[in-house]
Amino acid sequence: MNEIQKRVDELHNMLNQYSYEYYVKDNPTVPDSEYDQLLRELINIEDEHPEYRTADSPTVRVGGQAQSTFEKVQHDTPMLSLGNAFNADELRKFDQRIRDNIGEVTYMCELKIDGLAVSLKYEDGQFVQGLTRGDGTTGEDITENLRTIHAIPLKVDAPLTFEVRGEAYMPRQSFLKLNEEKEAKDEQPFANPRNAAAGSLRQQDTRLAAQRKLSVFLYSVNDFTQFEASTQSDALDELDRLGYKTNQERQIANNIDEVLEYIDKWTEQRESLPYDIDGIVIKVNSLEQQQELGFTQKSPRWAIAYKFPAEEVVTTLRDIELSIGRTGVVTPTAILDPVRVAGTTVSRASLHNGDLIQERDIRIGDSVIVKKAGDIIPEVVKSIIDRRPEDAEVYHMPTHCPSCGHELVRIEGEVALRCINPKCPAQLIEGLIHFVSRQAMNIDGLGDKIIQQLYENEVIKDVADIYYLSKEDLLPLERMGEKKVANLLAAIDASRENSLERLLFGLGIRHLGAKASQTIAEKYETMDRLLEVSEEELVEIYDVGEKLAQSIVTYLENEDVRALINKLKEKNVNMSYKGVKTTEVTGHPEFEGKTIVLTGKLQEMTRNEATEWLELQGASVTNSVTKKTDIVIAGKDAGSKLDKAEKLGTTVWSEAEFQDKQKEIED
Ligand code: IVH
Repeated sequence: MNEIQKRVDELHNMLNQYSYEYYVKDNPTVPDSEYDQLLRELINIEDEHPEYRTADSPTVRVGGQAQSTFEKVQHDTPMLSLGNAFNADELRKFDQRIRDNIGEVTYMCELKIDGLAVSLKYEDGQFVQGLTRGDGTTGEDITENLRTIHAIPLKVDAPLTFEVRGEAYMPRQSFLKLNEEKEAKDEQPFANPRNAAAGSLRQQDTRLAAQRKLSVFLYSVNDFTQFEASTQSDALDELDRLGYKTNQERQIANNIDEVLEYIDKWTEQRESLPYDIDGIVIKVNSLEQQQELGFTQKSPRWAIAYKFPAEEVVTTLRDIELSIGRTGVVTPTAILDPVRVAGTTVSRASLHNGDLIQERDIRIGDSVIVKKAGDIIPEVVKSIIDRRPEDAEVYHMPTHCPSCGHELVRIEGEVALRCINPKCPAQLIEGLIHFVSRQAMNIDGLGDKIIQQLYENEVIKDVADIYYLSKEDLLPLERMGEKKVANLLAAIDASRENSLERLLFGLGIRHLGAKASQTIAEKYETMDRLLEVSEEELVEIYDVGEKLAQSIVTYLENEDVRALINKLKEKNVNMSYKGVKTTEVTGHPEFEGKTIVLTGKLQEMTRNEATEWLELQGASVTNSVTKKTDIVIAGKDAGSKLDKAEKLGTTVWSEAEFQDKQKEIED
């Protein structure tokens, strides 16, 4: 072997070893300067003799190539997600279900790293491709950016061809430093380490990705057969031996109580970790048992994610503002002293409705606890009564609409107060905003502010007026130039061609969502046929219930609505369905064509609901148990039908089992 090759090999070995010690083992053995010096030497050799540059050279860690797009690649096996549990009860149910199915188990508890899932492919021990999760079926090829992550081995000492999966993340310290730098440059900081990691892996310039100091924890391999592993625990140990970084806080739990102890421990200690976690993942440890339990369409049955409760913070409620939605519902919104919660600054939060303000005795001036529901939507949880200032003000919901002055009403059975004036400006403006929104007519450039101005200047009063807009109407508006006006008019023009379902959804018919709009447009094809349709016909449709059918018919019968539709027609707005016809929705294979009998008292749903649901899945629900019966679902106090089923050897499900199936299908 020539001298250069020898030195290159030496450099590869040393650099890989040092990287491993530093980034995987968290245990550096040489000063950074030494690593840098060796790396520089290797870069110089490669610059002078490009033939020595290889895909697995440690020099790829610094990045180099820029790429403009990330190719979409289908995963060999889908990247699924996990079912969630939010409390001990739900975990005990999970445990019970598993033990009912396969008997005693031990669990592996792992931290749920708050980053993004990645899949890494190796061929003959060489890292060849790295993908994001994407939609689970298809991900994006981010190989080059992943190569810059030191914790990812570019090759392993075994000729393995396999796929490892794990979570890429940004350590807290790197995140803080990155945001400091961004702020110094007057750039928008990242909301949290997860966003920062995701943004970094989608950097087009790999050199920038390389500077972002990302890391990764691997937690699974696709093909255990190449491993001498019979448990998740063995598999992770094997990954360790191969030089991968796995999380060392994992722990085996012999029963659900030990799982709960592990959860308690990390709920308390999570802040002391150098990276963010958002929960705990609990997996059946035995790989054989995992296989036995299998998967639902979306997630493994052998694992679950316990999610930590949402972060709660305290701030002051300064005021309560009202907003009026498209359907006239009046929603109170809390105006707060800005406060950081779950990664963003919050200054407004929903108070839902007047009853809630009263029940929780929330007053203006109070210190309040705020959290984000589902970690996204800020809401006020409660007031801290002990800290109430003397001048805190009790809030009374208004009796009249703050927009039009019409008396507010409370619809029976609803908590919301509603303005029922069909000419209420606030509602009309919201209706216009809805009409142009992405899922509806998708008119780009017609933002809320512009709509508001156009409405207030009486240029548009209804959605059809949008198609009567001219350059002269638009130019005088704030922040509108020739170019913007031209673009906007082009967008309006293009929207005339939209398929019927967009128009239907855009009209804002009560209870009519985008999905049902699609189904209805597909079925009736033209607006004219829809104008003739009866409630009875509509309820026949798969996802149309009585309330919706009634709402549609009442709406379309209205004279003003008919006039509006004609006004739209005059401006050549398309009134027919253009989409591709999808095939008839069929039921679920588990139920399709099955004969099912319900017996006993169901606790979670009425018998009608259960029947309706089963029929939607393609089953027929009958009354008596015969040889033809496929499944009997037995509620509480089931009697003779259950006896008969047992005699005939018919499959019997408890209500809980039935619910599990439902959950699986609906997820
Ligand atoms: S196991 C079939 N283990 O949590 C999916 N996931 O929905 C098996 N995650 O995006 C995932 N830490 O990337 C597993 N120790 C861990 C994890 C973990 C984080 C992420 C995963 C996925 C989400 C689960």
